[in-house]
Amino acid sequence: MSLSLLSLAALCWGAASPEPTVQCGSENELSPEWKVQHTLIPGDLRDLRVEPVKARVAPEEYSLRMNISWILRADASICFLKATKICVTSHSNSHTFSCVRCNYTEAFQQQTRPLGSKWAFSYTGFPVELNTVYFIGAHNIPPANMDEDGPSLSVNFTSPGCLDHIMKYKKKCIEAGSLWDPNITACKRDEKTVEVNFTTSSLGDRYMALIQSSGLLGLSTVRESKPTRTSVVVPVSGESEGAVVQLTPYFHTCRHDCIRRRGMVGRCLPASLHPSLDSNRRVLGSWLPLLLALLAAAWMLAVGIWLLKQHERTKKASFPANTLLPRAKVLLVYPSEICFQHTVRFFTEFLQHHCRSEVILGKWQKKKIAEMGPVQWLTTQKRAADKVIFLLSNGASPTCNGACGESEDSPWKDSQDLFPLAFTLFCSDLTNQTRLHKYVVVYFREADTEEDYSALNVCAKYHLMKDASALCRELRHIKPPGEAVTSLL
Ligand SMILES: *[C@@H]1O[C@H](CO)[C@@H](O)[C@H](O)[C@H]1NC(C)=O
Ligand SMILES: *[C@@H]1O[C@H](CO)[C@@H](O)[C@H](O)[C@H]1NC(C)=O
Ligand SMILES: *[C@@H]1O[C@H](CO)[C@@H](O)[C@H](O)[C@H]1NC(C)=O
Ligand SMILES: *[C@@H]1O[C@H](CO)[C@@H](O)[C@H](O)[C@H]1NC(C)=O
Ligand SMILES: *[C@@H]1O[C@H](CO)[C@@H](O)[C@H](O)[C@H]1NC(C)=O
Repeated sequence: MSLSLLSLAALCWGAASPEPTVQCGSENELSPEWKVQHTLIPGDLRDLRVEPVKARVAPEEYSLRMNISWILRADASICFLKATKICVTSHSNSHTFSCVRCNYTEAFQQQTRPLGSKWAFSYTGFPVELNTVYFIGAHNIPPANMDEDGPSLSVNFTSPGCLDHIMKYKKKCIEAGSLWDPNITACKRDEKTVEVNFTTSSLGDRYMALIQSSGLLGLSTVRESKPTRTSVVVPVSGESEGAVVQLTPYFHTCRHDCIRRRGMVGRCLPASLHPSLDSNRRVLGSWLPLLLALLAAAWMLAVGIWLLKQHERTKKASFPANTLLPRAKVLLVYPSEICFQHTVRFFTEFLQHHCRSEVILGKWQKKKIAEMGPVQWLTTQKRAADKVIFLLSNGASPTCNGACGESEDSPWKDSQDLFPLAFTLFCSDLTNQTRLHKYVVVYFREADTEEDYSALNVCAKYHLMKDASALCRELRHIKPPGEAVTSLL
């Protein structure tokens, strides 16, 4: 009986106090509460934050607004809290000032939320312009009396420009090409020419591709008004492998001031060995069933013969000489300032496709790293890898610039830079002659190894792309696993 009464009481209490939410509306004039005296007022806010958020308002149109969030202080004065007033002043060409008042829908019965966390609310509304300083102030209502210094909290917020991953959705940025993905690929065709491929945009009809390393190597302009994949050959006056290609668009709205994009010049793949494959495809189609039947028969014959031979050889069979060597496993570490999109991805693809290597990248194993911890992960991967490559930036390689940072996938923003940790962990191996051969340093430009990492000077060094084939040779001639393991552990 008493138990059911208790649970009934609990039910009523729960139903009587739903969690407060906020209802916000514009209130640019003084709040009416200022006009009366209050003996008891709520304390100030504990935290106030601002970040830009985007909302799609039409298929190709976004509105960018401030998400202002705040946390209430968990003290007894919370029971006097009725509303929070937020005012935003902008300091751009024109001064603007506007306020909202957010009423709490219920009186606060508890200092914290039912599960113990502090009360937190947010309001999304004030529009955000590019590169503007905003001053955001907030105070609780009822406010302090007119002649008293009332508690309030304020923050400054400087909105970023078009390269920001949210601001790029601003109409002005989209018109300047912020959402355009040129997907630049470039390769050295020979000593005198570089081939640059990219996707054009409907925003303009002229582009300039510029190849530069320490100085300008060459440039070409392209005219194209429709979005399509374009190829341009740029004559160059020097070594172009590893150089940077900068693509400057001239769009109608931004003209000479549009967002420029960058890529890197690699080495062109050798011309396909089967140039007539396409024309052969149709002929192949009609012959395919017969061909398949023949192949199957030949295969069965081959298997039969092989089985016979195996039988003859019995246990004398040794390791077959010309089976394909296993792929070399490479652990690639690089400092956070190296641009992932352009440099690391390019280098990884190079290792995979040209050197038949399997690449282990921290970036692709974030979850595993989080589970194991970076030290354990690095140690395990080092043991599994045939080579550990330190990719160095030397301050001169195409590090993350604005054009690169705009990608949402910017390097290690949310995770740890593994490079210094790997260096520290593997450092003792560098003084051990038998273990040293596992480590390789790869750099893009001639320069001294950074002082902090000078211990790496003892490692085999390769200059990309100049020593690319030597690096591949080294990776292809990894010792048989058994031997490697004994010398490494
Ligand atoms: C908030 O409360 C005040 C005073 O009760 C009222 O004048 C105002 O209209 C309310 N605002 C909203 C958005 O509900
Ligand atoms: C605004 O920020 C708060 C706190 O970070 C978050 O809970 C809320 O979902 C955000 N609102 C929008 C529209 O992004
Ligand atoms: C915000 O910026 C204004 C103007 O630049 C400055 O006077 C003020 O001290 C800043 N306030 C904070 C909280 O940083
Ligand atoms: C970029 O171009 C390459 C080669 O043409 C293609 O394989 C890749 O899918 C493209 N990526 C994007 C994001 O369009
Ligand atoms: C550029 O495109 C052409 C034609 O599609 C292709 O043959 C060539 O390999 C591409 N070059 C690069 C560097 O992507």
